[in-house]
Amino acid sequence: MKGIILAGGSGTRLGPSTDGVSKQLLDIYDKPMIYYPLATLMTAGIRDILVITTEEDQPAFKRLLGNGKKFGINISYTIQPSPDGLAQAFILGEEFINQEECAMILGDNIFYGNGFKKLLNKAKSNAQEGKATIFGNQVRDPERFGIMELDQENNVLSVEEKPKVPKSNYAIVGLYFYPKGVSELAKKVVPSKRGELEITTLNDFYLQEGILKAEILEDGFTWFDTGTHESKLDAANMIRTIEKNKDQIICCPEQIAYEQGWLTKEELTNSIEIYSKNEYGKYLQKIIMKNK
Ligand code: G1P
Repeated sequence: MKGIILAGGSGTRLGPSTDGVSKQLLDIYDKPMIYYPLATLMTAGIRDILVITTEEDQPAFKRLLGNGKKFGINISYTIQPSPDGLAQAFILGEEFINQEECAMILGDNIFYGNGFKKLLNKAKSNAQEGKATIFGNQVRDPERFGIMELDQENNVLSVEEKPKVPKSNYAIVGLYFYPKGVSELAKKVVPSKRGELEITTLNDFYLQEGILKAEILEDGFTWFDTGTHESKLDAANMIRTIEKNKDQIICCPEQIAYEQGWLTKEELTNSIEIYSKNEYGKYLQKIIMKNK
């Protein structure tokens, strides 16, 4: 299964902070924003990842992530010439996806919570069985998001992009799992009134076919779309609190790679050498010592 991180966009809501650097390279507490979605895909066991960025920001992403070797994965890159909608990712990534199943996560979405791996595995097996999966999270301001309407058994009844009168307060979060053939289907999406190839239109195709599944992020689960200064700070505060209480660094790609067996002790030791004097490096050093 392939994975895409969509990290394009102009990030104008975070100006002037994003005037000189891409939004997804800004930090959330102790690591770059894009590490969080990267960690999510890696937790799902996905090792072939395409990072989609603007043309001008691509060199900075390459500087940060390289070819993925330091995380025991393969990272490739594609440019999104203009932000024409989330569904465009599957058209831009057609060659990379190469007819396989594919997950996509937005570069500013952070997930953390109990049982996440189980949910990801469920979504993965849905994709292998030819079904798409979206994830729902209850929100206070449903008109800002894609919304799913559910029946009592959590079957999806409808999906709508930023409805003025939302049928539920379950936001469709920025993480999607699709079966084979998603690029072909994405090409059939017609631009919306705001001129975008909406992911919600793509999801509606799967719904009409009867192959759209929803997983709900239950209470206690945390999801952040860190596209505003407020949500970015809220996320940073939450990450700091969790890490302090647990004496742990969460969503740490090197740790995930090591625990999945994608990096040997030597490889991890080499990849963290440059961090030897900071907390990130010391933390990973502890992980290595523990697993000796
Ligand atoms: C996009 C999607 C929307 C989804 C949201 C999640 O919204 O269009 O369906 O709920 O991401 O972050 P946008 O970021 O374009 O406002």
